[in-house]
Parts: sequence; C-alpha cells; structure tokens
Amino acid sequence: MKVLVTGGTGFIGSHTIVSLIETGMKPVIVDNLDNSLPSVLKSLEAITQTTIPFYEVDCNDQEAINQVFEKEKDIEGVIHFAAHKAVGESVINPLKYYQNNVGSLIVLLEVMKKHQTPHLVFSSSCTVYGQPGQLPVTETSPIIPAESPYGNTKQICEEVIRDTVHSSQADLANFQLNAILLRYFNPIGAHPSGHIGELPLGVPNNLVPYITQTAAGIRDTLTIFGNDYDTPDGTCIRDYIHVMDLAEAHVKALQLLANKSENGSICEVFNIGTGKGNSVQELVHTFEKVNNLKLNYEFGKRRPGDIEQIYASVDKANQQLGWQTKRSLEDGLRDAWNWQQKLIK
Ligand code: WQD
Repeated sequence: MKVLVTGGTGFIGSHTIVSLIETGMKPVIVDNLDNSLPSVLKSLEAITQTTIPFYEVDCNDQEAINQVFEKEKDIEGVIHFAAHKAVGESVINPLKYYQNNVGSLIVLLEVMKKHQTPHLVFSSSCTVYGQPGQLPVTETSPIIPAESPYGNTKQICEEVIRDTVHSSQADLANFQLNAILLRYFNPIGAHPSGHIGELPLGVPNNLVPYITQTAAGIRDTLTIFGNDYDTPDGTCIRDYIHVMDLAEAHVKALQLLANKSENGSICEVFNIGTGKGNSVQELVHTFEKVNNLKLNYEFGKRRPGDIEQIYASVDKANQQLGWQTKRSLEDGLRDAWNWQQKLIK
C-alpha cells in the first residue's frame, strides 16, 4: 500500500516511516519542516536503505497537497501526524492552532475525497480524557472539555472525521472514507540505531527530552512539577510508550482498515499506550539505573493544567488491532539517552 505520511519527518512520524517500510508499505512524506530538520530524511534513508519520496509542503496548501496526490497517483492511505503540539503556545495563540490543526485536516479530507482515497489514520491524544474518573481509561470513557486549544483541536478533528465517515456511509458511491483514530499516551525513546529520535526546538516541554538534556549538561536541573499529588510517591503518573511500539500501531491500523473496510465504512478509536502507569519519580530513577548515571533534579511547584494520573486500557488495541507493545520502559529510556548522546557528538 502506498501511504501519504504528513509530518513524516517529525518524532512519531519518522519512526512510523521505518515501521511502514519494514512491513513492505510505500510511504510518501509530506512535511513543511516547521518543527523538524531535512537531515531526518537522510537518517531515514540510512536506516531503511531505501529512497523515500519527500515533499516540502504545508498541509494547509490544498493545491500543493492535490499535486502530491496527482504525482504519486495511487495513494491508498493517509497517516496524518502534521500538527502544532505545544500546549502552552496554543493558549497564547489559539487561532494558530485551530487554523493549522483543524484546517489541515479539512484540506486533506477534501483532497482524499477528490482522489477517492479510502483510508485515514489520525493522531489523536489521551488529552481528550482529561482526568479520568476511572483508571485504566478505556475508549468509551467520557471525553472531557479540553483544558487547552491544542487539546480542543484533537477533539474537533475526531468529530470532523467521524462526521465525514458517517456522511460517506450514507453516500457510498461518492466517497467511502474509513478512519482509525489513535489516542496516544506519552511517547518516549528513539530508534535503537540512534539515527532518529525526538528533536525538540528550544527548551523541551516534555519530560524525557528534559531529562536527557539535563543528563547531557544542556540543562542544569530537572524540576519535577509537584510531589504532593495523591499518588504513591506524590508525583504524577503517565503511560510512557516506546515510540517504536507506537509506530507499529500505525501499521496495524492500516492493515485493519484494508481488511475490514470491504464491508462498508468504519471509524474506530484505539488507545495506544502500555496499560501501565509510572510516576515521574519512577521514570527518573529508572533513567538513572539503566544508564548508570545520576540526574540533577529538584521538586518544584505543580505545573498548571497537569492531570494527576492517567494510563490506558489497551485491551481493544490488543484484540482488534492485533497489536502489543514489545519494548519496556527501560528500553525507551536507554534508547532516548543513546539518541541524546549521538546528538551531542
Ligand atoms: C509528563 C509528566 C509533568 C516536564 C502529554 C503529551 C503532550 C500533550 C499532552 C499530546 C507530567 C512532568 C514534565 C518537566 C516534570 N499532547 N514533568 N518536569 O503533560 O503528559 O502531555 O499529553 O498529545 O505533548 O506529551 O507530558 O512529558 O509534558 O509531562 O515534572 O520538566 O512529567 O508534570 O507529570 P504530558 P509531559
């Protein structure tokens, strides 16, 4: 299957490219390089030993996206990663987020409709659950009004896709869209080769890049945001999933779409996590242990907007996607440090 991957040089996108090629699929990358580097393409070609079609195009540019479809001809599926993702920035500049994240999805769906491209896998987020009343959180748990414009764009995009699938169910002759919405938990790690990984621009917002940059001496001290939560050690709990496990879930999603959709349009949502929660403090200690180093850290105030704890129920993904995680937290933290060390050199 030829698959258009938007945001294919980003963190999750680039790792998914590797998994797609390993499974014999043919990815085509579209990325405007707003938050990634052209060198990622070279690294991908080094890992996979293949030439990957690449278009430096903004997903909001409908004519340019249309031209990619015309040139590539037989695109059967789209994985849509490309989006802005900084929660704090989205609060300061919400229009940038609504315009880019929602606008680009609508452009893609229009072009997919024009070219009768049937399969879509969409990057959604566990942020749609807010602080769940019950853990682990399942796909049928309530969706909570988003804390940030960023989170809201993910909820709106889910609705846009659902409505488009419903309309295609009512009008099969016109456009049959099948979609899988993957709600990611917290991706960490890097490809074990150390050729690709997370490349935050400026001061990292996320925990693991902050940890690796502190270990590398780029940052002085990691601040753990709050140790007075109602959790065993007082720090927040998340479900940290290795980015290669997450990447493989996209391949399974495309395979499910190709197999299942013969009987009409489908729209399914899956949690993609490990099913296990770890606290920030546990993560720091595991990082120190597997990499045999000491991390400079201190406890600070709670970060506004943080939820206390969340982790996934992955039963649905295990059963219906036939997907399971293969890598441990230790693997993720080892691979993240390996990647950071290669970046310094
Ligand atoms: C994890 C934990 C922090 C940095 C995730 C995604 C994010 C977004 C929303 C995804 C929290 C603590 C962090 C630091 C810390 N969108 N922390 N010190 O908040 O779970 O967000 O969902 O769709 O991109 O990653 O992830 O990595 O920011 O934080 O103590 O310097 O680490 O308070 O408990 P989060 P995170």
